[in-house]
Amino acid sequence: MNFSEATLALFAREVAKFPADQKQSAVMACLAIVQHEQGHVSQEAEEAIAAYLGMPAIAVHEVTTFYNMYNQQPVGKYKLNVCTNLPCQLRHGEHALDHVCKRLGVKPYGTTEDGLFTVQPSECLGACADAPVMLVNDREMLSFMDDDKLDELIDTLRKEG
Ligand code: FES
Repeated sequence: MNFSEATLALFAREVAKFPADQKQSAVMACLAIVQHEQGHVSQEAEEAIAAYLGMPAIAVHEVTTFYNMYNQQPVGKYKLNVCTNLPCQLRHGEHALDHVCKRLGVKPYGTTEDGLFTVQPSECLGACADAPVMLVNDREMLSFMDDDKLDELIDTLRKEG
């Protein structure tokens, strides 16, 4: 995979933040740039980032697979991550995930046929007191997601299309 000049310029800006012999420290930023442009990080993209940063492809893959925020396959326009770790479980986190899946007619990790939504369980999002908690597109955290709030969210996102 060949990255565009614009993408390489973004990579270079991230690499410049670290000492010259530690450019692999920019791996997370480079993965985020690729995902922002392509929607997910393919194996080819991982290999190209590895070559750019001078590190083994498996080391890049380890980063991609460790963090929830990196998509290894294409996802819907709205990626909904519902926390199912223990504190959220104790306050209906699993129910919230089930509710979203039923409303959208998908199983966990599934994407709706119209390509609008992907639903995934998530590890702790660091806001356990607000359970059940969820994340929209890795950026927007939502708290106390009971059935009514989940329905409202889905309806709003559907309208936005
Ligand atoms: S367990 Fe859900 S936010 Fe911590």
